[in-house]
Amino acid sequence: MAHRPASRNVINRLIYAAQHSACPCHGCRSAGAHSPMQALSQMRKFATPVDAPPIEKEYAFEVAASNLRFGEGVTREVGMDLKNMKARKVAVFTDPIVSKLPPMKMALASLEQQDDLPFVVYDRVVAEPTETSWRDAIAWSREQDCSHFLAVGGGSVMDTAKAANCTFTVYKDADLFDFINAPVGKGLPITQTLRPLIAVPTTAGTGSETTGTAILDIPSMSFKTGIANRAMKPTLGIVDTINTRSCSRELHISSGLDVLFHSLESYTAIPYTERMPRPSNPNLRPAYQGSNPVADIFSMWALHTTVKNLPRISKDLGDFEAMRQMALAASFAGIGFGNAGVHLCHGISYPISGLNKAGPKYKHAGYDVDHPIIPHGVSVALSAPAVFQFTAPSSPSRHREVLSVFQNTTPADPSISAIPDSEVGAHLYEAIARFLDGLGVPRGLKAVGYKKEDVPSLVEGTIPQRRVLDLAPGIGNVAGADGREHLTDIIERSLEY
Ligand SMILES: NC(=O)c1ccc[n+]([C@@H]2O[C@H](COP(=O)([O-])OP(=O)(O)OC[C@H]3O[C@@H](n4cnc5c(N)ncnc54)[C@H](O)[C@@H]3O)[C@@H](O)[C@H]2O)c1
Ligand SMILES: [Fe+2]
Repeated sequence: MAHRPASRNVINRLIYAAQHSACPCHGCRSAGAHSPMQALSQMRKFATPVDAPPIEKEYAFEVAASNLRFGEGVTREVGMDLKNMKARKVAVFTDPIVSKLPPMKMALASLEQQDDLPFVVYDRVVAEPTETSWRDAIAWSREQDCSHFLAVGGGSVMDTAKAANCTFTVYKDADLFDFINAPVGKGLPITQTLRPLIAVPTTAGTGSETTGTAILDIPSMSFKTGIANRAMKPTLGIVDTINTRSCSRELHISSGLDVLFHSLESYTAIPYTERMPRPSNPNLRPAYQGSNPVADIFSMWALHTTVKNLPRISKDLGDFEAMRQMALAASFAGIGFGNAGVHLCHGISYPISGLNKAGPKYKHAGYDVDHPIIPHGVSVALSAPAVFQFTAPSSPSRHREVLSVFQNTTPADPSISAIPDSEVGAHLYEAIARFLDGLGVPRGLKAVGYKKEDVPSLVEGTIPQRRVLDLAPGIGNVAGADGREHLTDIIERSLEY
């Protein structure tokens, strides 16, 4: 009987699996395959290895971030910036709450001070935006035909402004799903120059002012996904360190958790040299590239700063110095994960948030919205102890370093250095769980209303998040594996802690 040839994909996956430990964290290398060709032969049951060109691994990484300006009260410069950019008409994006707060008032006053700088305001951004709310913003933008964009708000506002800019300017006839990450959307490249966007964050969280990422909830699919493309990064991020002073304690904490896990996930993502295939053209190199020396520096600084300052804000809403530090940390983490990427906590968070509307309908305290909401930072944190226990064996030294930050010491301290590699994960699980508990974060998925029966749906909603799963150690660099078993285990272990 003739053998059906293995598809190119399968061949490549096998070659990769054999070239590397198939499961670097968990040692499940396919038995007996000592070379790529042997692995291929075994799989095809051929006695003699066949030739197939190996897929080459990445050898380069690229660093991109918005221009950034930090300072107290710097929002008042935005009118001059837009005038300097020769704006013809400005589209100002915000949401119904931020529209009444000092950052928006300061931004509007700054625009009004300029002669001949017309602007229009869109204040219907929805917290944790959806496909419907994005479409509304896009339709509005298409009508207004503005030359420049200004976003004043949290990640929801900045992301909505990015999407409206992208699909309205040069891509007037495009559909949203043309640019949404594959496999959910077509993931088409954005090759045209978008219109200038200035982003003024009012939360210390997403780092969206630095990145080309925009996230939306797709209720029909019960998960979140987004567009990730360097072309969408703001021209300028204005990080005004007083803009977060009006945030509730819960908002400070959930956005701060986003900073924490941006930095932790980007620091522990697979190294960029393990990502494959090497792109055939530099403009195909993804924004999320895997951990790299530049992202490491930003992520580590953000991690140290968050572990030190977020608990201070939680205890004292008058601690403006800690808020200033968190505003910096959010952008630093943005530079880190914007170039390295995030992995499992984020991938798992997308169905946790998405399924909530039809399922548990949990509404987090401190969020003044008219719909169920597990804030992004909280949804990311829910799986974190189990995630980092899972990833620790992939790189014990990095995880040991992270553990030392939570323990306020150094990796060389005997309390850290004496821990055997095999136990670093368990210690990190405890350290993260204790940190989250200190901030009053719900202790696992059950605390926000999920049950054991929901685990398969949460796994299914995570599987399509390839953009981030590909960077997850133990899942991403086992090319071809979708990681279902590991994900089930991590999510089950996240039900309560
Ligand atoms: N683009 C990215 O790189 C990226 C990264 C992480 C998360 N996200 C996305 O960003 C969204 C979350 O953004 P977020 O955490 O910044 O919150 P948000 O923008 O959703 O805002 C949350 C709530 O806080 C209010 N708010 C905002 N600023 C305030 C202030 N200064 N004072 C009082 N209230 C204020 C808002 O009106 C809203 O009701 C999610 O959709 C998430 O998926 C994007
Ligand atoms: Fe995030």
